[in-house]
Amino acid sequence: MERILLSQEQLDEIVADLAGEIAADFAGAAPLQLLGLLKGCQPFLADLSRALSRYSLPLAVDYLKARSYVGTASSGRVEITALTAVADLALGDVVVIDDIFDTGLTLKQVVSHLKEQGAGRVKTCVLLRKEGCSRVAIEPDYVGAVIPNEFVVGYGLDYNEQYRELPFIKVLE
Ligand code: XMP
Repeated sequence: MERILLSQEQLDEIVADLAGEIAADFAGAAPLQLLGLLKGCQPFLADLSRALSRYSLPLAVDYLKARSYVGTASSGRVEITALTAVADLALGDVVVIDDIFDTGLTLKQVVSHLKEQGAGRVKTCVLLRKEGCSRVAIEPDYVGAVIPNEFVVGYGLDYNEQYRELPFIKVLE
């Protein structure tokens, strides 16, 4: 029996709420740069940017590749392997978009990396936050939903590259 944690309808609502929060915080600001962490951010970032389009907020979208998980466990090391042509980081606000906050090492490392590259204000947004796993002092600025400490797949999240295509989030049995 599949254990679906968040249905497609629930994800739609979560994403719409996050877009509302972000739009309220950045109304009237310089173009907002959404910086997605590949590969897991893809469906989330696509839906979030579409939801944000309702608010007429000037947006730029770019990607960074970060990898910390091997199978179902964090390796404890974060590899930032590719930075695409990120627009001028010092100019606007950057919101880093990730699928899930687990130990927090990935976001911590990415935020430090962006600061080293000269980024100004950097905020972080995750679809999911695992309960009680954080190993770092930072908290994401925007959190879609808090989930129990279980390995989940779907909506961009994978187990060895499988299940990313699912339109819902389920627990990997
Ligand atoms: P940290 O521990 O750095 O982890 O906050 C963030 C990254 O680890 C991956 N991750 C998962 N991937 N199901 C997945 O498919 C999970 O339950 C899970 N927990 C962590 C993910 O790539 C995330 O960006």
